[in-house]
Amino acid sequence: MNREELHSFIKSSLAGKELIIVTNREPYVHRRKSGRIVVDRSAGGVATALDDILALTGGIWLAWGSGDADRETVDEDDTVMVPPDRPAYRLKRVWLQKKIAENYYNGFSNRVLWPLCHISLDRVYYRRRYWEDYIKANFTFTNAISAIVNDNSLVWLHDYHLCMVPGMLRERFPDLTVAHFWHIPWPDWDVFRAAPQAMNILEGLLGNDLIGFQIPLFVKNFLECVDEALDAEVDYENSTITYRGRKTFLSAFPISVDFEKFNHLSSAPETERSIRRLRRKYNLPAMVGLGVDRLEYTKGLLKRLQALNLFFEKYEKFRGRFTFIQIAVPTRLQEPYLSYQKSVETLISRIQKRFGRDDWTPILYISRKLDQKELVAFYRMADLTIISSLYDGMNLVAKEYVASQTDSSGALILSGLAGAAEELEGAIRVNPYDIENFADSINIALRMPREEKRIRMQMLRKQISDNDIHYWITDVLRSILSISGIKSAGCEYAFDRMDRILKRLARRKPFFFLDYDGTLSPIVDTPDEATLPPRMKRLLRELSRNYPVTIITGRTLDDIRKRVGIKNIIYAGNHGAEIWENGQTAHIQQPEQELFLIREVLEKLTESLSDIKGVYVEDKGITVSIHYRNVWTKDISEVFSRFWSIMKGYEGRFRVTSGKKVFEIRPFAVWNKGDAVKWILRKHGKGFLPVYIGDDVTDEDAYSVLRKRGITLHVGPNSKSDYYLEDIDDVYRFLSEITSLRRNRS
Ligand code: UDP
Ligand code: G6P
Repeated sequence: MNREELHSFIKSSLAGKELIIVTNREPYVHRRKSGRIVVDRSAGGVATALDDILALTGGIWLAWGSGDADRETVDEDDTVMVPPDRPAYRLKRVWLQKKIAENYYNGFSNRVLWPLCHISLDRVYYRRRYWEDYIKANFTFTNAISAIVNDNSLVWLHDYHLCMVPGMLRERFPDLTVAHFWHIPWPDWDVFRAAPQAMNILEGLLGNDLIGFQIPLFVKNFLECVDEALDAEVDYENSTITYRGRKTFLSAFPISVDFEKFNHLSSAPETERSIRRLRRKYNLPAMVGLGVDRLEYTKGLLKRLQALNLFFEKYEKFRGRFTFIQIAVPTRLQEPYLSYQKSVETLISRIQKRFGRDDWTPILYISRKLDQKELVAFYRMADLTIISSLYDGMNLVAKEYVASQTDSSGALILSGLAGAAEELEGAIRVNPYDIENFADSINIALRMPREEKRIRMQMLRKQISDNDIHYWITDVLRSILSISGIKSAGCEYAFDRMDRILKRLARRKPFFFLDYDGTLSPIVDTPDEATLPPRMKRLLRELSRNYPVTIITGRTLDDIRKRVGIKNIIYAGNHGAEIWENGQTAHIQQPEQELFLIREVLEKLTESLSDIKGVYVEDKGITVSIHYRNVWTKDISEVFSRFWSIMKGYEGRFRVTSGKKVFEIRPFAVWNKGDAVKWILRKHGKGFLPVYIGDDVTDEDAYSVLRKRGITLHVGPNSKSDYYLEDIDDVYRFLSEITSLRRNRS
C-alpha cells in the first residue's frame, strides 16, 4: 500500500473516529536559540509517519512539552497547531514539573525500564522516587487524555514511558479503545522478574485493548511474564490475555520506514552533490563504512569499535583504503550515557592513534544529529553499514540504509540481536559479542563480489518496500479499528464484563437457555454430524444438576433429545414450537392450516432443488430447513433463485430466516424461540435470572424477550444480545466459570 492508498484507507475507515496519539517525545519542540524561538522536528520515521496521518485525519497528538520555548508557543488550551508550515492537527502539550520529569524520564523510564527491557541488568538503577514520580507523570498524562476523549476516540499510546496510563484510563473509561505500541524489546520472565514494580507495570499495560510489539518473540515473552506474575488467563495460541474480566489482544507489528521517501531522496541530484562534497570535506578513501546511532550502550558501539580495531590489525591492506564513519547522536545526557560516551570516544582515539595517518582516518566520528537529507547522502555513499545492537526492538537505521541503496552496491552487517534481523534476509549476520567473527565479516562485506551484493541488497529492498511504514500503520490501525468495532457493535465481550455478570449471578440463580448448533456443538457440514463434544456434555450434566437448563434449537425434539441425552433438562425444538420436559411433551403446536401449507412448500422445494448437488431439505414437521453448506459455490445462486421463486407464492404466511448456510421456514402462527422462553419462564422461572446463549438469527427473538430481564450472550459479534463470546470454546469457558463458582461456594 502506498502513501495515497494508505491515506484513503484511513480516511474511510476512521470515519467519525478521532485518533489520539500519545508519546513522551513530541513531534515538534520549540526551543530558544540565540534569542529566537526555533522549532525542531523529530526526524525519526515513526514520528514522521504518525505526523502524516494526523495531518490527514486532524486528530490530536499529546506529548510532554519538554522544549524551553514550548510554553510560549501554545494557546490557553496548551495546544499548538502543527506542522508549523501547514497547520493541520493539534499538538497538546503535557507539563511536568522539573523534578517529576527528571525522575519519570531519566529515572524510571531510562534507568530502570530501558536497561531492563534491553537485558542490561547491571545498568538498572532504581530509586523509590523514580517510581513515585513515574506514577505522577503517568497520572498527568492520563488527566490530559481524559480531558479530550469522547465516545469516538481511539487512543494510541507509545512506548515504555507510559506503562501506567492504560490502567488509569481504563478505570475512568471502561469502554474507551486504548492501544499501545511497545517500540523496544520485551524481555523474558527471567529478566523481567528483576523489575521493581513488575506486577504494577504488567497490570497497567493490561488496561490496553491491544498491545503491539516489534516481533513475535516479544509477544511470547510478554505472555509468559503475565502468566508467571499475575492470576490471568493467558491464551498462547491466540495471543490474548484475560485479566480481571478484561481481554487484551497482543500482536507483532514490525515497524518500518518510508521506503519511497528514502528511495526518492537517495536518487535526487542534490544527494549526488552532497556525496561529492562529503568525500572532499572529509578526504574519504575509496571505501567507506557507516554506523548511525544514538550514542547508546544498547547499540553495541564498543563491540563494533573493538571489531574494527581487530579488522584494521588483521586486514592490513584496508588501512588507508577504508574509513568507517560513525555518526553518534548524543542522547539522554546523564549517566550511564556520559560514561559510555567517554568510553566510545577513548576507544576511537586509541584506534586513531594506533592506525591513523596524516592522510587517512580509520574512524571518522561525527557527534551530532543529522537531518534526513544529510543522512541519506551517507547511506547512499556507504559500501557497508554496521548494526551491532546488543539488543534492539527493531533498528530503523538498518531499514533506512537499505531503502537508500538505490544502486544496490552496499552490504548490511546486521546483529542477530536486533529485531530487524527477524525479517531481513540478505544481510550479513553477526553476533556482536564474537569480535573475531565480526572483524572477519567486515572483511567479507568489503570483498564481496558486486553481483552477490546486488542480489542480497535487492532481496532486502523488496522486503522493505513490501512492508514499509504505511503498511505498518495500516496494520496497526486496522487492528485498533477492528477491536473498537467489536466493542461498539452494541454488545461487549462477556469476559470483559465478567465482574458485572458475576455480580448479577450472585444475587439470583441462573436459568440457562442454550442453543445447540454453533453454541454447544460446532457447525459441521451436515446437521447429522453435529455431536456434542464430550467435555461439553460433562459440563452440561454438572450444570443441570445445579441449575434449570433448557436446550433451545431449530432441530426437532426427537433429534435434540437423542443428541444431548441428558434427562433432567427441558428441550425446546423446532425453534420453540415444541417443548419437552419431565419425560413428556409439554407443548406442541400443529395448527392444521399451517401444517397443510408447510407440506405443500416442502414438496415444492424438494422437487425443485433435487437436482442440485449438496442441497439438503430437512422436514421438521411444522417447520422446514434448507441447508446449502455443501452446495458448490457455482450453484449457490441457482439455489437462491429457485428457493425465493417458490417462497414468493407464500408471502405473509411463513417467516423465512437465513442462518449459517441454511434457510429456515416457519409459519408465522407458530412460536419462535422468544415465545418458548416466555412460556418456560412463566412456568418455572420465578426468582431466576435467565441466561441465554445463542449464535443464530433465530436466537435474536429470545434476546429481545430477555432484554433487561436476563443476560443474553451471542457467539460472534453483531447481535442484539447484551454480550458476545468468540466461539464455542468461550461458551465452554463461560459455563465452566459459573459452575466452578458454584463449586467454590458450596
Ligand atoms: N537519526 C536521525 N539523525 C541522526 C541519527 C539518527 O534522524 O543523526 C534517526 C534515524 O534516521 C532513525 C532514528 O534516528 O530514524 C533511530 O532509530 P533506530 O530505530 O535505529 O534507533 P532508536 O534511536 O530508536 O533506538
Ligand atoms: C527510542 C525509544 C523512543 C525514544 C527514542 C529517543 O527509539 O523507543 O521512545 O523517543 O529512543 O530517545 P529519547 O529519550 O531522546 O526520546
